[in-house]
Amino acid sequence: MITHSSQIKNFTIIGSGTLGARIGLRAALSGFKVVLYDIHESSFTRAKKDFQRIKILLNRKGELSPERFDELTESIIYTTDINLACRNTDFISESVLEDVQLKKEVWKKIGDLAPAHSILTTNTSYLLPSWFAKESGASERFCAFHFHDVFTARVVDIMPHPGTDPEIIEVLRDVGKQLHQIPVVIKKETQGYIFNKMFGSILMTAGSMWANGIASVEDIDRSWMGNYGMRIGPFGMMDEVGIDTVFHVAKGMDVNTDPVFVKKIEEMINNGSLGIKTGKGFYNYPHPQYKNANFLS
Ligand SMILES: NC(=O)c1ccc[n+]([C@@H]2O[C@H](COP(=O)([O-])OP(=O)(O)OC[C@H]3O[C@@H](n4cnc5c(N)ncnc54)[C@H](O)[C@@H]3O)[C@@H](O)[C@H]2O)c1
Repeated sequence: MITHSSQIKNFTIIGSGTLGARIGLRAALSGFKVVLYDIHESSFTRAKKDFQRIKILLNRKGELSPERFDELTESIIYTTDINLACRNTDFISESVLEDVQLKKEVWKKIGDLAPAHSILTTNTSYLLPSWFAKESGASERFCAFHFHDVFTARVVDIMPHPGTDPEIIEVLRDVGKQLHQIPVVIKKETQGYIFNKMFGSILMTAGSMWANGIASVEDIDRSWMGNYGMRIGPFGMMDEVGIDTVFHVAKGMDVNTDPVFVKKIEEMINNGSLGIKTGKGFYNYPHPQYKNANFLS
């Protein structure tokens, strides 16, 4: 088993969608040899477009020139062949859809193919690693390693399940730092890790107050923004995250969820009000009211 991060050279991503591709990109930029695996070729086309945006962002921030970016990423292998993806890997990061049954099936396949020394991680947002560690066939090498958006939100959650070998935690801390993340350890399994759990509670409390007629969307956001100088309040954040995602979190996570709020956001989803991505959520876009200069006056 890998016991030191210096033993990790080959990095495999299983599921190269929104987050998986970014984790793979970050690993390539940090000098790992990366294989991106997905069942859909189209995911690679999307990933490459996202990489171009990140290239511009990193150049603008003065972190990496476009030439160096290209040099570091030209060796990334894109494949729909899971045998190739798992054959020589030292480290696996799984980011398939947030569905426990799918994750079980995928981990069974990975477990049959991955080398016996490799570290196995899942990027699940709110499932528990123990729900599918057994399927990997190597529970002791299996741990949650959860990213936020990788390039701007840089916390990585390390959450072992009861069967994880404690030696892996230090390896993951090191890998997290090499990936330019801020590693934090969750000592006991819990849905939503640290940030997402706090964030979820805030969103659900705000939602419940609005759904029960205690205060308006605007006044709840004003309370949040006005007291701590925040640029956005809970309802603006829900529009950013997407109302459909908020709904899944409300149903799936062990945060205090008010059924009155859940019913209201279900109605919004049925009306196509999914937040920024559909131009309408709690606010209208591209010019939501909370961005007006006089919103807090
Ligand atoms: N989007 C986020 O902000 C975010 C943040 C942290 C963690 N996550 C977690 O990452 C995981 C993926 O989320 P996402 O937002 O990237 O989803 P996504 O839909 O953008 O990507 C999922 C990818 O998995 C692929 N896929 C589906 N079935 C597969 C299979 N059997 N084998 C290989 N690939 C398969 C899809 O083709 C797709 O490219 C989820 O567990 C989610 O909770 C997401």
